[in-house]
Amino acid sequence: MLVSLQDISPEASRSTGAIACCNVFGIEEAIAVISAAEEAKRPVILAVNKDMAELAGVEAMAGLLLPLAKASSTKVCIHLDHCYEEETVYRAIHSGFTSVMFDGSQLPLSENIRRTRQVANVTKSLGISLEGELGSVPYQEGRDHIRSALTDPDEASIYEEQSGIDVLAISVGNVHRMAEAGTPINFDLVSKLEQAVSLPLVIHGTTGITEQDIRALKKRRIAKFNVGTTLRQAFGYAIRERMKNEPDKYDRQYFAGTAIDALRKEAKRVITLLAPE
Ligand code: 13P
Repeated sequence: MLVSLQDISPEASRSTGAIACCNVFGIEEAIAVISAAEEAKRPVILAVNKDMAELAGVEAMAGLLLPLAKASSTKVCIHLDHCYEEETVYRAIHSGFTSVMFDGSQLPLSENIRRTRQVANVTKSLGISLEGELGSVPYQEGRDHIRSALTDPDEASIYEEQSGIDVLAISVGNVHRMAEAGTPINFDLVSKLEQAVSLPLVIHGTTGITEQDIRALKKRRIAKFNVGTTLRQAFGYAIRERMKNEPDKYDRQYFAGTAIDALRKEAKRVITLLAPE
């Protein structure tokens, strides 16, 4: 069934578990992730990133994902990942997304608050969830202009009070798009942020975090873990392997079946890792 982030994040932030927010790029990934969540009997968030929002448009992505979410036996939230323009956020809401991220993390605090607040006025009136980011989670590759800055607890408190967001993405050593896990997480800073704000928290860059640290973080106030690279690796490597072994085959669906199976397995590993203990 289709849900908003507000329907699932407060409970996840209080529990010893959290919800996987999986980047999906097309129908194969969406089917694989939803079936993994159904098998694990856990809610899940499907996230449309900037690349897909630009390539397909948020309207087409909503058209693809909403029927799958509505038909699912588990709770599925349709989320717009990092978005820097209000216009795209509003188009996504209009198309049926149940959760959006307005990412003002590259702006000065006052500007981030002002623009996020305007978006929050709209999301609140429509029952859509709004994620904001403070500090800036850097990228290992692909978005070199994005700063690296830890989240400041005093600023986080001001941002929570004035921006109107529902969940807060924090920068505590996490890094987007690492090919392997191993980034050091600043657990002292996580504790300080838990004291400074009362909102559910979000961790981006889950691929780069060790399973041990994910288990520790999910028991804290973290409600949502964004995961992309490890899923893209599972999907891409499965196709490459089969294509290498069967060079005469060319049908999209022939290779897609293998990729769906590999992605379902990896998504289920992450979803289960995040389940309450
Ligand atoms: P990874 O690709 O590092 O798992 O992070 C995904 C993400 O944070 C998307 O917002």
